[in-house]
Amino acid sequence: MAVRIAHLSDTHLSPRNSLFQGNFDRVAADIRAMAPDFVIHTGDLSLDGVLHHEDLAFAAASHGGLGTEVLLLPGNHDVGEAASFTGGVPVTPERVARYHSLVGPSAWVRDCPGWRLVGLNTQVLDLDTPFAADQFRLLQQASEQLEGRRLLLALHMPMAAELYDEPDSPPQWFLSRRARQRLCQAWGAAAPTLVLSGHLHQWRAPWIGATRHCSAPATSFVVHPDWQQTFGTRTVGYLLHHLHPDGRHETEYRPVPGLVCHDIIDHPSIYG
Ligand SMILES: [Fe+2]
Ligand SMILES: [Fe+2]
Repeated sequence: MAVRIAHLSDTHLSPRNSLFQGNFDRVAADIRAMAPDFVIHTGDLSLDGVLHHEDLAFAAASHGGLGTEVLLLPGNHDVGEAASFTGGVPVTPERVARYHSLVGPSAWVRDCPGWRLVGLNTQVLDLDTPFAADQFRLLQQASEQLEGRRLLLALHMPMAAELYDEPDSPPQWFLSRRARQRLCQAWGAAAPTLVLSGHLHQWRAPWIGATRHCSAPATSFVVHPDWQQTFGTRTVGYLLHHLHPDGRHETEYRPVPGLVCHDIIDHPSIYG
């Protein structure tokens, strides 16, 4: 029997602003009714958890009632920007430590029949710190001991637009080339079958080699084409992944009736 994973992303929740709460509540109700085996959230839980710590605690608590095990990951709005060339508030060990105390672990490994799920904190993958080294060590060890399982890797930022060796292209919608290369080195010969991500606020599922890269739509909002290149489909909702014990997998987009497709360009007071 297939393991079902509800994959949501970019909820951008806050007790200070309820604009995106209605969509989250509808998605949460849909997930509760469907009762998947796991929920994976690929980051940007909070509206601005970097500067408003209450957003982090609120977002974490909001995911407590989904009725199944929830695996959360931090995004740039939770712990800071990944690379120095973005000009945003940078990720620091203190910000990651705050995430750990208010939300929980920022990396994890779970096994289910035929599959190993590994979640990493993409925001630190550019750093030369013991903290970043821990992420690569975790992926390397998990990849070396798969014992026939397929690997599913969950990240906040998608790895690449098209190719692992493509150049960096600010504004940073994808991992840096350096972070990509370090991930490929860490998984070695055991390339993931699936890579899940968010951050784009667009739904897409391209293949790079034998790996399918599924970026979930946000539950919260899309980014207007004037502000962001088109990589996939601008919509809101979430994804449902079916993982079969023999390694087959399917992904479906769950639109959820009643969701409002907010465009962040219409709400300049939120991020400027
Ligand atoms: Fe986001
Ligand atoms: Fe993000």
